[in-house]
Amino acid sequence: MLKFDPKIKSQFKSLHMKVTVVGAGNVGATCADVLAQREIANEIVLLDIKEGFAEGKALDIWETSPINLYDSRTVGSTNDYSKTADSDVVVITSGLPRKPGMSRDDLIATNAGIVKSVTEQVVKYSPNAKIVIVSNPLDVMTYCAFLAAKVDSSKVFGMAGVLDTARYRSFLALELNVSPKDIQAVLMGGHGDTMVPLPRYTTVGGIPVTELISEDKLNDIIERTKFGGGEIVKLLGTSAWYAPGAAAAQMVEAIVRDQKRIFPVCAWLQGEYGMKDIYLGVPVVLGKNGIEKIIELDLNAEEKALLEESAVAVRGVMKVLDDMNVMS
Ligand code: LAC
Repeated sequence: MLKFDPKIKSQFKSLHMKVTVVGAGNVGATCADVLAQREIANEIVLLDIKEGFAEGKALDIWETSPINLYDSRTVGSTNDYSKTADSDVVVITSGLPRKPGMSRDDLIATNAGIVKSVTEQVVKYSPNAKIVIVSNPLDVMTYCAFLAAKVDSSKVFGMAGVLDTARYRSFLALELNVSPKDIQAVLMGGHGDTMVPLPRYTTVGGIPVTELISEDKLNDIIERTKFGGGEIVKLLGTSAWYAPGAAAAQMVEAIVRDQKRIFPVCAWLQGEYGMKDIYLGVPVVLGKNGIEKIIELDLNAEEKALLEESAVAVRGVMKVLDDMNVMS
């Protein structure tokens, strides 16, 4: 019989990564599935409030392991946060999705209460976790989680820019008939209609995009990107999940593998870009410590004005949250 040497366990402990995904709806389950298939964590806990739901999704995902050839353990939990203890990263997808005709902001009252209580439970069992918020309205739910978590802002941030740039890059790939792999882009601002795609920082195989596409076409793609979430809501009658789930998983990967990837992430600004006390999408370096650096681009006047406009929209929704007094 093989003997287990406890010294070996401690040696390998740092390699064992545990990720929790709260909310086993479409986005959460997709995120867990991507995390498992790509073996981003050794242990993946999917948690949901609905009895048996997360267990069912997690089991279904686990049953793909012999087919998809991975060994990430995926387990479910009905609202038992003790199962999430000592997670390295927690993704929060809880809350209602949008219905046709709704803006992301319409969800605030319901989702703020949910995100607050989920975050409190998460931090209780995993005080050192990096927390990735996916719930909408994204920027303000990230703010809500930050207030509830009472941890450093480098550990609480939101997933929006990875999704929004993915949409932008996927549309550009179609228009230019090139691989989406070769398209790099930065996008700033809130996760809403005021998001700020930056053509000056968009390249295709290292070539500035403006050399490959007319201004009109590029503007059409920017507009389509801004309303990319709504385009899916109109088609499906509910929010997207494949791209949001994969985008959150990519952020988790950057953290657990300490990749130092540069992504647009919804981050707490303390003077960067001349803004203070606001969660807004900006380029950051993402690694094992969460947000390790906020990158400050030298924006031109037009870009600055668009970012300001986006900040005003986000502050408006932050005020709605503050006035609801749900955070006290
Ligand atoms: C979207 C939602 C998830 O953009 O915000 O699809």
